[in-house]
Amino acid sequence: MNQETGVFRGKGLWGVILGGSSGFGLAAAKRLAREGLNILIAHKDKEGTVETVIKPHFDEIRAAGVSLVTHNANLFDDEERGTVFESIAEKAGAGKVHLFMHSIAAGSCKLIAEDKTPDFKGIALRGLAESLKAEGASVEPDVLKRAVNAAFHQKGCDALYTLADSRIPYREELLSEEDLQRTVWMMGYDYLLWARELSNAGLLTKDARMVAMTSEGNEIAWKGYAAVSAAKCALEASCRAMAVELAPYGVRSYVVQAGITDTPAGNAIPNFDLMKAQARLRNPFHRLTTPEDVAEAILSLCLPGFAWANGEVIRVDGGEAVSGV
Ligand SMILES: NC(=O)c1ccc[n+]([C@@H]2O[C@H](COP(=O)([O-])OP(=O)(O)OC[C@H]3O[C@@H](n4cnc5c(N)ncnc54)[C@H](O)[C@@H]3O)[C@@H](O)[C@H]2O)c1
Repeated sequence: MNQETGVFRGKGLWGVILGGSSGFGLAAAKRLAREGLNILIAHKDKEGTVETVIKPHFDEIRAAGVSLVTHNANLFDDEERGTVFESIAEKAGAGKVHLFMHSIAAGSCKLIAEDKTPDFKGIALRGLAESLKAEGASVEPDVLKRAVNAAFHQKGCDALYTLADSRIPYREELLSEEDLQRTVWMMGYDYLLWARELSNAGLLTKDARMVAMTSEGNEIAWKGYAAVSAAKCALEASCRAMAVELAPYGVRSYVVQAGITDTPAGNAIPNFDLMKAQARLRNPFHRLTTPEDVAEAILSLCLPGFAWANGEVIRVDGGEAVSGV
């Protein structure tokens, strides 16, 4: 890896990435490290996962020739959050944080009411079985169902997503008021709270960039996504408020709207396997978004010459959200 070049090399600047051990946060950390930005990551993972899965990625960041500070901490515990904040102040120091990225996935994905959707899959499979019988091929609906699930889950037949059963079912318990409140805090306005604290403490550069992650669920209602959807709306409102009120401090604030991406948090959303298939069919490029696609966009948002967008929701999804296919 070339440790000589890079837009930020040798400038002593830092990127602070909350949720930087996986998905978009980790990909952004790696990409920016290659450009010479020192990185501070806070994340919350099991120790075993840190040792076996995450540590090699952190080694890769260090191999880019930058400083890397990591904290495995629950950022919604006051004490642990305070420790991370003090570490930023101590390691980066005044006026050195150029990027603050909030990429934490910590919400509740539960239904708000018992699912009463008619059994469209059963109706379709019974209809198909009858049509096959009329054609002289007698197949029972439950055999068809097994065949559909095998073709979808084992052979990658995405077009069967309306008939296949998800392997990520809805949780039994319904969304509570506390789930809703915590999710809107953790994935919504927490972005604003951190940004303000970093700005007040004088830790930001004179043209610092703030980035948080949203999804298409900001405007459409996926079942089981109510709390996260509400959080995304709070997040985007926070971004706009930051754009206006923190501009006098030099801050530019963005929210990046990624397309459907195969990450641990994504795979905790009910029906995400069906959503991925639908996204591959609908996306104009017929593939999912990758964390690396998004990391390239975040690098662009951090470049010195790109400083006039502010308060924007920027889609990085290959055109998925605008595709009506
Ligand atoms: N995956 C998608 O399809 C998709 C699409 C658009 C937007 N997003 C959004 O992107 C953001 C990141 O999601 P991802 O898909 O990269 O998820 P991910 O599971 O890959 O990463 C989540 C990160 O959050 C950290 N984290 C979770 N709880 C924490 C806590 N209490 N304290 C500190 N860190 C904590 C984890 O350690 C990890 O680093 C989320 O806001 C998500 O809604 C995801």
